[in-house]
Amino acid sequence: MSQVKAAILVTGGAGYIGSQAVLALKRAGYEVVVLDNLVYGHRDLVEKVLQVELVVGDTSDRALLDRLFSTHNITAVMHFAAYAYVGESVTDPAKYYRNNVLGTLTLLEAMMAASVKKFVFSSTCATYGVPKAVPIPEDHPQNPINPYGASKLMVERILSDFDVAYGFKSVRFRYFNAAGADPTGLLGEDHAPETHLIPLVLMTALGLRESVSIFGTDYPTTDGTCIRDYIHVSDLAVAHVLGLEYLLQGGDTEVFNLGNGSGFSVKEVIETATAVTGREIKTVECDRRPGDPPVLVGSSDKARKTLGWQPQYSDLSEILSHAWQWHQQRHCQSLA
Ligand SMILES: NC(=O)c1ccc[n+]([C@@H]2O[C@H](COP(=O)([O-])OP(=O)(O)OC[C@H]3O[C@@H](n4cnc5c(N)ncnc54)[C@H](O)[C@@H]3O)[C@@H](O)[C@H]2O)c1
Repeated sequence: MSQVKAAILVTGGAGYIGSQAVLALKRAGYEVVVLDNLVYGHRDLVEKVLQVELVVGDTSDRALLDRLFSTHNITAVMHFAAYAYVGESVTDPAKYYRNNVLGTLTLLEAMMAASVKKFVFSSTCATYGVPKAVPIPEDHPQNPINPYGASKLMVERILSDFDVAYGFKSVRFRYFNAAGADPTGLLGEDHAPETHLIPLVLMTALGLRESVSIFGTDYPTTDGTCIRDYIHVSDLAVAHVLGLEYLLQGGDTEVFNLGNGSGFSVKEVIETATAVTGREIKTVECDRRPGDPPVLVGSSDKARKTLGWQPQYSDLSEILSHAWQWHQQRHCQSLA
């Protein structure tokens, strides 16, 4: 058995990507503590499936954080906890700035008080706004077009300033569209409400939804629908472990895109899902949504070179089959 290494605090570890990171950390031999307020997270996932300690609480609760840091030997934090519904961030920006910015600042201050200065942060391609060039490199200008992206950019700025002032080291990962499920079927995507294309397509294939809406069919792309970069969630999780180890080995503050490097259109996703599931997936063509760039694809060369990250699952059919396996299992259980 591998030796137990440092204890890592994973905020938002009861959510989709955070839970996969907990699994990857466990597989790499780390001791993990999860902090999640369970607003969107799943208690059973942490306690029964992953079997790690769950502290139910909020990143804005400074007294709770101080207790947590004083009772655990935390050496670094992976911070997934945030609200991530772009549309809601436009109608209720206060909710996003309070949770994503103030909640994070409270966590960072508690870390400083406990002399914990290594931080892996979930940022997003939404910080780039409408790209001027694709694939998007990390030094592309950041001009977010919604409060969600702006809230993440504010944290990125705070992290840069904390490094200059306090020697606080962070890895900021700007991910593209997280997709898929753990290939063993242990964990998958279970958002409520669900807004992501792949789960919506698969829920339609399962008969849990009437149809999938295609927002815009007149974009300047090969088939007129938006192109996005789908990165397998297990590859994302492994990148987080590599980012953590980079910091634990004394690495400097850095930013990395995490994407597949190739884009797939909405229609391609639906066609591939039809082939993978063998089911009919009814679609409804709708108008464009405001603020949806035609193409969002990232360059992840820097993560490959600096961290030695090698994504395992870049094939869309494979990403969809893992997600399909998990969705079938998840929804058959809930219907049973
Ligand atoms: N899903 C994607 O494609 C994607 C893309 C780019 C960036 N991200 C970022 O990755 C992170 C994880 O995304 P996800 O899809 O797993 O979301 P998720 O909603 O499944 O997970 C977030 C978790 O954080 C918890 N949480 C939220 N606010 C909290 C707080 N203040 N204190 C404690 N717990 C809190 C929620 O209960 C939930 O379990 C988010 O920061 C998101 O912005 C996601």
